[in-house]
Parts: sequence; structure tokens; C-alpha cells
Amino acid sequence: MGYILSDSTFTQLAEFIKDKTGINIPPTKKYLIENRLFKTLEDYNLKGYDEYLYLLKYSGNGKEINRLFDAITTNETFFFREPLQFDVFVEHILPRVIERKHGMKNIRIWSAACSSGEEAYTLSMLLKEKRPDVTAEIIASDISQQVISAAESGVYTSYSIRNVDDLYMRKYFTRQGETYLLDEKIRHSVRFRQHNMLSPLRPPELNNFDVVFCRNVLIYFDIKTKQEAVSTTYDSLTAGGFLIIGSSESLHNITRAFKPTTIDRVVAYEKI
Ligand SMILES: C[S@@+](CC[C@H](N)C(=O)[O-])C[C@H]1O[C@@H](n2cnc3c(N)ncnc32)[C@H](O)[C@@H]1O
Repeated sequence: MGYILSDSTFTQLAEFIKDKTGINIPPTKKYLIENRLFKTLEDYNLKGYDEYLYLLKYSGNGKEINRLFDAITTNETFFFREPLQFDVFVEHILPRVIERKHGMKNIRIWSAACSSGEEAYTLSMLLKEKRPDVTAEIIASDISQQVISAAESGVYTSYSIRNVDDLYMRKYFTRQGETYLLDEKIRHSVRFRQHNMLSPLRPPELNNFDVVFCRNVLIYFDIKTKQEAVSTTYDSLTAGGFLIIGSSESLHNITRAFKPTTIDRVVAYEKI
């Protein structure tokens, strides 16, 4: 590596990252910045982190910021992650949403912080299999353009598909050597876009959702940033819509705006 990250530069860099992404990197995780950013410094031929910070702050363009987003985010995800939540969504939440819409079976779903798309595509396959009568508009977004491009390509590793059962594998994936290509119809059933959840500007298409999945991203934020992100999801939902966060996450101390409902050990948050 060869680069030394002083405590004061670390503090400034961590502040910059938090300001731009919401991601909170405490001093105990200084190694995370070093591990993830030294390659950028090498590629840009920089002398050290000070120079990198200067570039980001004063002379950088969108490209450098995007590269920072790609490097600093943790994009771990896979198909059918936390499957109980998907079961509860299909069997309980969806019928409630449809009932509230007086039987209308057009629903809008947002996979916020979607990483490489596995969550959004899982929803699409599930709906196709279990509720072919429902028309779903699924929009998925992430701050990192790199994962959005990966999602759009629809090519996955054995790690991503390890929880996919045989029926879905046979129907929706084609093996291509070491990778798996997702069925074209499923790929086209989700619309992806780069979007920072903390941006004060939310494009009109990120509105009027019946269900928002915002799983496994709040863990990277501090309380204040969690509140901001959750309030964005609240505003993006229609009345009576549901927010689903990761099963290891909680809205305790974050907001009281939602009504938590526990269904089969899954907590879903209803906008009242
Ligand atoms: C661990 S992944 C979670 C993926 C998926 N939701 C899941 O549960 O498997 C977290 C994702 O949050 C994204 N992320 C982090 N900060 C973000 C922000 N401010 N706005 C949008 N996405 C963000 C990261 O790029 C990363 O892809």
C-alpha cells in the first residue's frame, strides 16, 4: 500500500464521506478507508490521502465522487436474502395493500439501496410465480453506479444465487461458465437508477410507492442519518404503504411515524 493515513486526514476524509453518503466510519474502522481507497490513490498517481482529499473537495468532478461511492460502499447482497420477509410480503402485505387499493392490482415497489439488484429481481420472480395476477412496477436505486451497472447486466456469481431453489434456477437463470445470466423478462421488469437516499431532491418517479424495501443500509448510518433516510422512505410511500427494513435493523429511537406490525416474526412498518 505504502500510503500513511494520519488521524487528522482520516477525520476529514470520514467527515467528507459521511456528508456525501451518510456512511459513518468510526476511527476504529480507519483500516476500511485504507483498504478501499489506496488503489484509487495509486491509479490517480497521488502522493497521499491529503492530496486525495483536496482532489475530492476542490478539483474533483463527478467521476471521482462516483469512484469514491463505488469504493466505500459495502454491497453485500444475494437473491432471496432473509426469505421470511419475502414470504410475509407475498402472503400478508401484498393482500393488505391490494385491499386498501379497493382490489386494484397495480402496485409500486421501491428497492432502495438495491446494490447489484438481487432484492428487486427476487421480488419480480416471486410475484411472477406467486401472484401473476399482480402488475408490479419495481424501481431499484443505489448510490453506487457500479452496482447499478452490474444489476442491469443481470450476470451473477454462484455466491449471489446460492439461496435460489431449483425451480427458480431452472426457470430464470442460464449458466454461462462460472456465471449465471438472469432471464431477460425479469431483467426488464425492474428499472434501475443511481440515487443517493439522502439527497434532498427525490425524482418524481421515487414517489407513491406501496411498499419500500430498504434493507441492510441503515446499519451504515448514525442515528441522525438513519432518521433522514427513513423520513425519505416515509415521504415516498402512499398512506397505508409498508416499509421493510433488514431483520437485524430497527426503527427504535429513529421514528414513531410508522406503525410497526409483526407478522410471522417479521416486522413491517405501516405508514398511517
Ligand atoms: C449491504 S447493501 C444492501 C443491499 C440489499 N438491500 C440487501 O439487503 O441485500 C447496502 C447498499 O446500500 C448502498 N448505499 C449506501 N449508502 C447509500 C445512500 N446514501 N443512498 C443509496 N444507497 C446507499 C450501498 O451502495 C450498498 O449497495
